[in-house]
Amino acid sequence: MSNQIIIAIDGYSSCGKSTLAKALAKELHFIYVDSGAMYRAVALYFLRNNINLNDHNEVVEALKNIHLNFHSRDYKTHITLNDEDVSSEIRQMPVSERVSSVAAIHEVRMEMVKQQQRMGKIKNIVMDGRDIGTTVFPTATVKIFMTADPKVRAERRYKELLPANPGITLEEVFENLAHRDYQDTTRAESPLRRAEDAIILDNTDLTPDEQLLFALSKVEPFLS
Ligand code: CDP
Repeated sequence: MSNQIIIAIDGYSSCGKSTLAKALAKELHFIYVDSGAMYRAVALYFLRNNINLNDHNEVVEALKNIHLNFHSRDYKTHITLNDEDVSSEIRQMPVSERVSSVAAIHEVRMEMVKQQQRMGKIKNIVMDGRDIGTTVFPTATVKIFMTADPKVRAERRYKELLPANPGITLEEVFENLAHRDYQDTTRAESPLRRAEDAIILDNTDLTPDEQLLFALSKVEPFLS
């Protein structure tokens, strides 16, 4: 598709990337891909199978046994890991605590980026993550880099997790986000950073509707 549109949304942990990406995809009838869900599913597989992250061969062999698929229903991400729907489990703390270490592994990134680029070949797409505008789609039509106050981000994620995790604390969530941001921005391969041509969107004081309108105004010039 020559006039294909790719919207790349990157940013820190829990700053509303997926909320915006889903809303844009719904509004524009684009495909939505949650790249973070892919790293989370790999982290879940590694956790369940006790994969030693420092053992190159073990990691490479494990990756061969991982088959991920997205099923879109009402713009909610349903991801399957070897045909099992793991959409809820990948959001839980055991995965959140390990995912950034898994996502720093070269072989893991190579495989995920390959799959993401394949998905981007088919249709107009919105993809969110950490390296979409820098590595996965460096020539994306529109790049948005999202940020928000760390305390606000932690409160939003805490509210999201609380119903299914009554024991969880705000401090625990805050620490997890801070630690992942540190790991994601300092890793050697494709660290989280703003692409030079990405538009910054700080949504600390914006409602979901307001951030959607802002993003739509940036995409509209490219719609035919
Ligand atoms: O939803 P949240 O912002 O908390 O995180 P996520 O998008 O589900 O991503 C989980 C983790 O996957 C991140 O902290 C990164 O370590 C990793 N990730 C990545 O390295 N590259 C991406 N394109 C997407 C996620």
